[in-house]
Order: sequence, then C-alpha cells, then structure tokens
Amino acid sequence: MKREISFIVNSQQMKLEVEGHLRLIDLIRDQLGLTGTKEGCGEGECGACTVIVDGKSVNACLYPALEIEGKTLITIEGLLEEDNKPSFIQKAFIDNGAVQCGFCSPGMIMSTKLY
Ligand code: FES
Repeated sequence: MKREISFIVNSQQMKLEVEGHLRLIDLIRDQLGLTGTKEGCGEGECGACTVIVDGKSVNACLYPALEIEGKTLITIEGLLEEDNKPSFIQKAFIDNGAVQCGFCSPGMIMSTKLY
C-alpha cells in the first residue's frame, strides 16, 4: 500500500508516494535517482549505504522509507559545493588516495561528515 510522504533531500523539498515495505536506499537510488549511495551487504554491517537523516548517521539499507516523512536527508550528492565541485571531505579523500575500488567511499565520506 502506497503512502505520500514529504521530506527534504539535499536542500530540496520532496513529496512522493512510496510503498510501505520500501527501504530508504531503494527510495534514494530508484525513485530519486541518486545513485551515489551504494548497497553493499544490505544487512547494516558494511556502512556503504550511510546517509544523514536529521543530523544522524543512518544505514539506508535498514531504514524504512516511510520513516523519512518530515525529516531532512543528505546523500553524498548533497555534499557537493557550487559548480558540482567536491566538498572538502571528498577532496581530502581524493588527495590522500583514500579509495580502493571506491564502492564504499560514499558511506565513509558521509560518516566523516558527522565528525
Ligand atoms: S549496505 Fe551494508 S550497511 Fe547498508
């Protein structure tokens, strides 16, 4: 059963209908098209899917999409500065070679943002 929710994502107000069983990562990637957030384990273990909800770190693979109602979501795309330049944290990762395959880098960068 679908329900309409409204929330803020990367400074943009959003209103969408979502299925009750949908996970936040599916909402982010499939409905919003923000594919920077990655799914690794899908079990809350690896942190690749980390996003920020109301200032707290969240594993989007475990978080019900309906729970985002009325909240503020920041994804890796939301860290970009003007002209789509990398943020200070993203640049620091690049400058220090803090990437192997890069798949989990968005999650590490989002976790770093909170410290
Ligand atoms: S995909 Fe591994 S914690 Fe979410």
